[in-house]
Amino acid sequence: MKSLFDENQINIGVGTWQLGMRGWGKDYSSSDAKEALKFLINNGIKFIDTAEIYGNGESEKNVGEVLSNSKRDKYYIATKIAGSNFKASKIKAKVEGSLKRLKLDYIDLYQVHWEPSAYTNLKESFKELEKICKEGLIMHIGVSNFSSKKIREVSNYLNEYKIESNQIKYNILERPVQEEINYLNENNIKIIAWSPLGQGFLTGKYIEKKPTGFIRKVNRLFRKESLKKYTPLFDFIKNKSQELNIAPATLVLSYEIKKGVIPIPGFKNIKQAEDIVKVLSFSLNDQIVKEIDDLVEPLITRYSKMGFYPPYLPNFIVNLIIKGI
Ligand SMILES: NC(=O)c1ccc[n+]([C@@H]2O[C@H](COP(=O)([O-])OP(=O)(O)OC[C@H]3O[C@@H](n4cnc5c(N)ncnc54)[C@H](OP(=O)(O)O)[C@@H]3O)[C@@H](O)[C@H]2O)c1
Repeated sequence: MKSLFDENQINIGVGTWQLGMRGWGKDYSSSDAKEALKFLINNGIKFIDTAEIYGNGESEKNVGEVLSNSKRDKYYIATKIAGSNFKASKIKAKVEGSLKRLKLDYIDLYQVHWEPSAYTNLKESFKELEKICKEGLIMHIGVSNFSSKKIREVSNYLNEYKIESNQIKYNILERPVQEEINYLNENNIKIIAWSPLGQGFLTGKYIEKKPTGFIRKVNRLFRKESLKKYTPLFDFIKNKSQELNIAPATLVLSYEIKKGVIPIPGFKNIKQAEDIVKVLSFSLNDQIVKEIDDLVEPLITRYSKMGFYPPYLPNFIVNLIIKGI
């Protein structure tokens, strides 16, 4: 079977955690965000990412409302099952729940949001997932925040399908260690880049003020000491984007596309959506990519821990933690 990414030219998508309407701050409104999503789909953005946990189903609902006005062949929808729900006996109901909220009859890419706990029988769960694929409810399988070691293990449990993508944190300043990236590239597993704008930090607009909302409170990029450390990068992004007559966000996303990953930026309004759409008709030249590489090399954080939660943390505790997301 051909992978979603081999069959279709997808080099950028969008993320819709923000449409869950929780934790992003006071200036988010579902009507602005839905208008923006409509604009994105009508202007050529085809790949839309959501998850059952964003706003406890609210993101999928809002996305479903917008998609109900679009032709099914205009977009690919990717959603995620929480790692703590990835139990053979629960998966079918979880898929059906997402389909109902999205108002769809199939999901293009179904991703396991993070490595499930050590108590999970992964063989049974992936076998069940494959069965649901064969029933036509899911077209392709992906994972998120999985280590290469775990992908190697779970790939053994799939017969006719394969793991086609790993959604991980990847941006100018934060990426996994090179061995993890190499494994994914060598095995034709597409990297889908979450937080491609560093949750807005990389656009340079948080030099003087901090974002509101609890989600960004725990992001180390927004700490006081970051500002001084990353000033040369902010200056570069500001000057270069002015010179090229594009927004800082467009520059940052175009750099990531050049690195071969699929960025899925979040957004809150049409203005931000316009900066994302601009990426479709813009390409960064290799010289600028090299200048950014040279500048950020000493600043990059390369992480090796891929999982989200300690493996022996019981699922019911994880489910309590994520309820507020
Ligand atoms: N798999 C996972 O574990 C995981 C984890 C996190 C996220 N995700 C997915 O990845 C998506 C994106 O990641 P993210 O939401 O963490 O961060 P992001 O895409 O790096 O940042 C999104 C934020 O950047 C700001 N922004 C967007 N466009 C802008 C523009 N043109 N100019 C200036 N600022 C702009 C907006 O915030 P303000 O305007 O409020 O500053 C927006 O909410 C999510 O929506 C979600 O689908 C997945």
